[in-house]
Amino acid sequence: MLLPLLAKLLNVSIDYLLTGKSLIGQAGPYDAEYQKEEYYWGMQPSELAEQVAGLAGNNTANKRLLDIGSGEGRDAVYFAKYGFQVDALEVSIPGAEKIRQYSQMSGYAVNVLQTDMIGYAPAGTYDVIYSHGSLQFLPLEQRQKHFDKYKQRTNVGGLNAHLVFVEKPFIPVAPDWEPNEFFYESGDLARYYHDWEILRYEESIIDCNSAGVPHRHALNRIIAKKIKA
Ligand SMILES: C[S@@+](CC[C@H](N)C(=O)[O-])C[C@H]1O[C@@H](n2cnc3c(N)ncnc32)[C@H](O)[C@@H]1O
Repeated sequence: MLLPLLAKLLNVSIDYLLTGKSLIGQAGPYDAEYQKEEYYWGMQPSELAEQVAGLAGNNTANKRLLDIGSGEGRDAVYFAKYGFQVDALEVSIPGAEKIRQYSQMSGYAVNVLQTDMIGYAPAGTYDVIYSHGSLQFLPLEQRQKHFDKYKQRTNVGGLNAHLVFVEKPFIPVAPDWEPNEFFYESGDLARYYHDWEILRYEESIIDCNSAGVPHRHALNRIIAKKIKA
């Protein structure tokens, strides 16, 4: 009977009190990989991150960047190295821990937000809101309001950049695609940003070997710029 009271007093969950571990964020598909020493997504930044940094040029001082679904932090740390003040949002506890480690190891500070992107309200505004392969975890009915929020929380002149998975009838669903992942359709990203300047927009098909099984993904990438409030 005392457990709920104790948990409240110590500001932890009952799971944590009993096991020393929190169950929040532990059921994620990548948790087991993130607990390994090696970096599942590698340590090199993604091409999209490099394109965003290229567009920002030297103008990154005091610029805030939010990386949604940051994984193990390869892009978050790269952006920090580039001079951005980075918030890395990641739901997986081992993922968040790996980002902290990578940030410490590299000497580039990243602020880790271990939380769920669904329902997350960014604090303040950002110069860049970025995601790479994570917004398929937004259920369809949540998307419009999340994109509206990302757009609203971006400073005028700032960028949003995303890479999403799109459904193609001729590409089989990847073997590690999870029940809580939902495809985009070609053109969805362009529609969300129809009132911004679209700097880059691209569709491509890539080979992938995640889960140790060769397969393909169709991707859409966008970099869009907010022109007016
Ligand atoms: C395909 S991985 C990409 C990781 C990273 N962006 C990269 O490119 O290296 C997608 C990430 O989104 C995270 N994720 C999934 N659902 C999430 C949610 N609801 N809130 C925050 N992060 C989430 C996963 O844990 C995973 O780390």
